[in-house]
Amino acid sequence: MDLEIFARVVHVVCVVFWIGGVAMVTTVMIPVLKNMDTNSEAFKLFHTFEKKFAIQARFTTFLTACSGFGMLEIANGWSRFLDLSSWWLHGMVLIWILFTIMLFIIEPFVLPKMIAKISPTGSKRIFPVMHLVHVLLLAGSVVTIVGVVAGSHGWSF
Ligand code: HEM
Repeated sequence: MDLEIFARVVHVVCVVFWIGGVAMVTTVMIPVLKNMDTNSEAFKLFHTFEKKFAIQARFTTFLTACSGFGMLEIANGWSRFLDLSSWWLHGMVLIWILFTIMLFIIEPFVLPKMIAKISPTGSKRIFPVMHLVHVLLLAGSVVTIVGVVAGSHGWSF
């Protein structure tokens, strides 16, 4: 198999696991947690879920970047960063940077402090904030995916 095609396959599979997981957290998990009766149960479920998904998300964001930059290197496409009609290329890197900050800095170091500050008594006040952040990230990801799939197959915006 051509190396560029291989990198594209790895890239898209990783995006499916990663952004698909984010969509599930945003549209299913957080709304369920927000509506749970017992706060302690909601936090327990959240921590169990978060621990598992963070491992998968860290692994897939890493492989997404390797395969994405790999495709650029193979196709010698670095100059496309200078072309604003390839805005979705900037979009992909921006989404990747935001998630990398979330997964490697905010989630392990800042989130525990935020939970202690916003929900010191274990109330669910943190969940609406988390939901908003996830909705914004998911919306940005979907716009970027629409842009890259349509744009790289000939649609110009
Ligand atoms: C460091 C971050 C990233 C880099 C360097 C990167 C780079 C690339 C490159 C060079 C392509 C091929 C484009 C073309 O054929 O013209 C591509 C395809 C793609 N990227 Fe990314 N990407 C990154 C992150 C992301 C993210 C975060 C998403 C999702 C939100 C994403 C979704 C996709 C999809 C769905 C395709 C396949 C398009 C298709 O073949 O139809 N990428 N990426």
